[in-house]
Amino acid sequence: MYSFKNDYSEGAHPSILNALIESNFEQEEGYGEDHYTRKAVELLKERIDLNDIDIHLLSGGTQTNLTALAAFLRPHEAAMAASTGHILGHETGAIEATGHKIISIEAEDGKLTPSLLIPVLDAHTDEHMVKPKLIYISNSTEIGSIYKKNELEQLRDFCHENNLILFMDGARLGSALCSGENDLKLSDLPELVDAFYIGGTKNGALIGEALVICHDSLKEDFRYHLKQRGALLAKGRLLGIQFLELFRDNLFFDLAMHANKMAEMLRVELSKLNIKFLTQSPSNQIFPIVSNAVITELQRKYSFHIWEKVDSDHSAIRLVTSWATKEDKVAAFIEDLKNALIY
Ligand SMILES: Cc1ncc(COP(=O)(O)O)c(C=O)c1O
Repeated sequence: MYSFKNDYSEGAHPSILNALIESNFEQEEGYGEDHYTRKAVELLKERIDLNDIDIHLLSGGTQTNLTALAAFLRPHEAAMAASTGHILGHETGAIEATGHKIISIEAEDGKLTPSLLIPVLDAHTDEHMVKPKLIYISNSTEIGSIYKKNELEQLRDFCHENNLILFMDGARLGSALCSGENDLKLSDLPELVDAFYIGGTKNGALIGEALVICHDSLKEDFRYHLKQRGALLAKGRLLGIQFLELFRDNLFFDLAMHANKMAEMLRVELSKLNIKFLTQSPSNQIFPIVSNAVITELQRKYSFHIWEKVDSDHSAIRLVTSWATKEDKVAAFIEDLKNALIY
């Protein structure tokens, strides 16, 4: 069985494991005060090309989303997210459990735009309702689409006009930035969003996300929030070591490029077979629509998510490639799919 279920089926890139082993017996300060974490933060600031940002390393995506949103919002304030957004459908109400409503917005391609947000602001008029305050987006989105620079500029301007916070979940930021359709640089982000994170877990790290807080008003006391949410790790060094390795050279981007290349191979070859896709997704997640009979045949050798029923005979499946996906397995999947279509 070979898995196209997600990009965290494998462990970690060997360079990261080696770095963890090599530093194993060193004694370090706890709670992110170790020299690896401090160096990783400095390095990330260099890569982002800005010193005036706060960077905190956390262990996972849900933890980062809930710690950040709970810290950024006042008790009566709410977040807005596309209905497909990860915080809405896949985080067990983690944000809501911190006391903040998430307002769901239908967005065909998983991306929010000012025109989708205006009706939400118009509908929330006074203190008898929650106050929409934060826009949650992810790049790439839950359905594999990516944000272009001008789309983020529009969202940023909208936030400035309406005194809103723009938060970008970057669990798959590597894949988004390495997409053939991307026109953003890592260093563009502080100009565009108030906070974002760089996902390590889904891009070759064992675990780890680097939260970057750009707007001064969101920075205060963040380590208190981390501690209170159980996110300030005694062995914080483990996160520092990993991010140092990911960003020392180009490993973070090389790994994302590999994942994207494998997805592109699937996308191109499946298109040649006249297979249609549920969404236009130029990143490492694709959503081909195939018949139920083909799905049953493929499931004999491969695991993947059945994403959405399209009609009584067809469903969209989700294929996710990773930093470690093997090219020969992708080629074998394509062959097996061709054979399944014939029979
Ligand atoms: C966009 C996005 N954000 C956040 C998460 C949550 O990450 P974790 O499973 O590490 O909590 C995921 C997980 O798949 C995700 O896809």
